[in-house]
Order: sequence, then structure tokens, then C-alpha cells
Amino acid sequence: MKLSIGLLGCGTVGAGVVSLVRKRADKVEAMTGFRPIIKSILVRDTDKDRGVEFVDERLTTVPADILDDDDIQIVVETIGGIEPAKTYILKALMSGKHVVTANKDLIALHGPEILRTAVEHEVSVLYEAAVGGAIPLVGPLKENLTANEVTDLKGIINGTTNFILSEMTSKRIDFEAALQMAQDLGYAEADPSSDIDGLDAARKLVILSSIAFETEVHLQDVQVEGIRKVTATDVRYAEEAGYVIKLLAVGRDHGGELTLSVRPTLIPRSHPLAHVSDAYNALYVRGDAAGDLMFFGRGAGRMPTASAVVGDIIALVRNLRLGYVTSSPNISESVRKPVVEREDDCYKYYFRLTALDQPGVFAHIAQLYGESGASMETVLQKRVESGRAEIVVVTHEISSSRARLLAEKLADLPEVHEVNMVMPVESIAE
Ligand code: NAP
Ligand code: HSE
Repeated sequence: MKLSIGLLGCGTVGAGVVSLVRKRADKVEAMTGFRPIIKSILVRDTDKDRGVEFVDERLTTVPADILDDDDIQIVVETIGGIEPAKTYILKALMSGKHVVTANKDLIALHGPEILRTAVEHEVSVLYEAAVGGAIPLVGPLKENLTANEVTDLKGIINGTTNFILSEMTSKRIDFEAALQMAQDLGYAEADPSSDIDGLDAARKLVILSSIAFETEVHLQDVQVEGIRKVTATDVRYAEEAGYVIKLLAVGRDHGGELTLSVRPTLIPRSHPLAHVSDAYNALYVRGDAAGDLMFFGRGAGRMPTASAVVGDIIALVRNLRLGYVTSSPNISESVRKPVVEREDDCYKYYFRLTALDQPGVFAHIAQLYGESGASMETVLQKRVESGRAEIVVVTHEISSSRARLLAEKLADLPEVHEVNMVMPVESIAE
């Protein structure tokens, strides 16, 4: 029996979905008795070449051709952004259609409303592709690891910034040159801000934390810092001290209190996340029963993302055969775990600063570290130009508020020209 699907958007991901649904239709029919067919596809321009052949599919610019078509049982949204995607998804759910979406921006910002609407209308919303592209993350956190209390999420969940930092490390180029390469290869968009300023990773962390920690999480709960200020010098100094720099998303549940951050972070070379290069993503999860797990793979791209979208479509088709609604991943509103800054959530910190190259300056700076309760673990000092020295210090563990205060006090010293960079250092898993 034919099962009709409506596809909203047919760009990078949508075109991959068209070809993969067609490729797997025989298998799904043999498995379930339902043959998935993409009946209609909503786009803005029906004449555009999309690098995919259309056979049964009809291109349209009229949303009602999908949303008001009673024959269509599953709507797949690959438009992206908030509007009109949100309106279309809500309308589909209210019309009793199941929804699959790859839209992390929408799920991170409006997930609770969308999931509530799905529950009210007894339909499903699945969004495995919204985080980590091909890597199964939503499903494992929601289903396979549900017997666990998940306490830690640590991950590289933005491919563009990982590519940029990897290029800066391996080719010793600066941020601007690596960004240009990411744009030339199609990883970074013309306006790359949401990737390089950490917002894309923060949205993904909101989605993962909501599921893993079973609570509602908001974007403003995440402490976010991007990679714009990371220089080739930082990359080189980190390397000399035994680290690589990654944009690390970290979520922790400290017995009911959450800490959430996305920040450029130094990772010891012996840590498994240090070896996640190029545009790859990885997520490290700690559960009280499962212990430590690491998920790794392609976090973006046409076919990797289509793999996750079509996996969700097949899960829905299976459930339709069995006659039940897939429970949507729980973004619970009943328990709100507070997001806090904890004094006992301590890290080592990397400081790079420029100061006058004169007798007694280093002693003065070292004294400030001592007075601030920040013990120095590694110190590097280089002369960068006449009369000015660059000083890099990696401290022993201190709280983030202490690190912030120390950076402010250092910046106030008359001998200090600038505190150029402050980054936490991730430890090897305890
Ligand atoms: P994309 O290449 O820009 O494609 C967007 C598609 O939506 C285009 O076909 C466009 O139509 C259509 N569209 C946009 N606005 C529309 C409107 N108002 N009405 C009708 N159609 C409209 O985007 P993408 O990279 O495939 O990303 C899609 C979604 O997947 C996003 O939510 C993104 O975050 C998510 N995602 C992407 C990746 C990835 O690797 N690209 C990975 C994971 C998740 P036209 O072609 O006619 O302009
Ligand atoms: N812009 C994202 C990244 C891909 O670079 O990881 C889609 O999630």
C-alpha cells in the first residue's frame, strides 16, 4: 500500500531525502507493507536544478498542496529557520499528520510548543537529524539510555568550527584563512556567524540536554562563546603545552542543577575528543549505569543528514503499521532543573596576555595569580615585539567566577597591555 509523504524544502538535505526514500522504498514495503512515496515537494522555485531526478514527486510553491492534502500522512520539513517552518509544522500536526524535521533552530527555540501540539493531536514529531547529522544521538538518549541517569554530555557538535580549528592546527593558518576554506568547501555559509559564534552548537546542546537531563532547557541558559578570538598563536601555544583547541559543548547535571556551556576549550591530546578532526562531530555521554560512551560521525552534509531524516520516516512507517504513535522525545515541562554557575565546577584555565617586557613585570603578574588563588601549572613567555612580551599561563583548577575575576584584575594592571584570550582546559575523564 502507498504511504504519501509531503516534503517541505528541497535543498541540501531535502534533495538527499528524495533520493534515499526512493532507494529504500522496496525495503520499507517488504518490511512494513507500506511503500513510502514522496508525493509533493514545496519549494520557492520549481525550475531550479536540485541535483536529483523527480519521478513520482510533484514540485509546488503552494503550501496547501501538502498541508491540506488528506492523502499525505507524513510531512518532512527541511526548509530550516523559524518561519514559515514553524507555522507549517504546527498546521501539519493539527491536521493529524506526523512530522519529521531536521530543524535544530526551531526545535531548540520552540520544541516544547511543537511537542505539546503533537501530543494533543496524537501524532509524532521526530528530529534525529537536528543534532549531529548522521550520528544517532536523539534516539539513543531517548530510548536506549533511558535506564540511566545521564550526568555528562561533552561534544564537538558543530562541524564548521571543528573544520576551521582543525585547519588552523594542521596547516598553521590563521582564523580568517581557515574560515575562507570552510566557505569555499561549502561548510560555512556566506554569513557564518551562527556557527563561529557558537549559536548553532548552543542550540544543539539545548536539544540534547533537554532529552538527557529530562527537563526544559532554554537557549539563554547556555553560556556561549565562539571561536572568532582564537588565533594561530593560541593554537600553537596550546600545542606546545600538550593540548588541541576545540569548540566544546558541555552539559552537566549536578544532582538536579545544570551547567551548560559552549566555549573554545583546550583538550589534552590524549583525550578521545582531541582526535575528532575536520567537519566530524562527536558526543561523549556519561550515564550512571552505562558508564562512558562516545558517538562519532558526520554531523552534516546531504546524505549523512538524509540518513537520519529517512531513518525517522521509516520509524514512523513501522509504527503506522503497528498502529501506534511514536512517543515524542520528552522535553518535560513538569520538572525545571535550575541552570546555575557552580563554584565547585572547576577547570584549569589558559590565559594569553601581552605585557611590558621589563624587569619585575612577570613577578607582579605571578603575584596576582597567587593572590587570586590560581596556582600556575604551565608558563610560557615569548617576546613578540620590542618592549612587549606574550605570556601564556595554564592554571591549576579554579572556578569560572575566579577565572573571570582574575582576567579583570590582570587587565587592570598598568603593565598588562591586553588579556587576549581566556579558555578552560578540559581534563581527561575522571
Ligand atoms: P537549504 O539547502 O537552504 O534548503 C532549504 C530549502 O527550503 C530549499 O529547497 C528552499 O527552496 C526551501 N525553502 C526555503 N524557504 C522556503 C519557503 N519560504 N517556502 C518554501 N520553500 C522554502 O537548507 P539545508 O541545508 O537543506 O537545511 C535544511 C534544514 O536541515 C535546516 O533546518 C538545517 O538546519 C538542517 N540541517 C542541515 C544540515 C546540512 O548539512 N545542510 C545538517 C543538519 C541539519 P528553493 O530551493 O526553491 O529556494
Ligand atoms: N552548520 C552545522 C555545522 C551543520 O557546521 O555543524 C548543520 O547542523
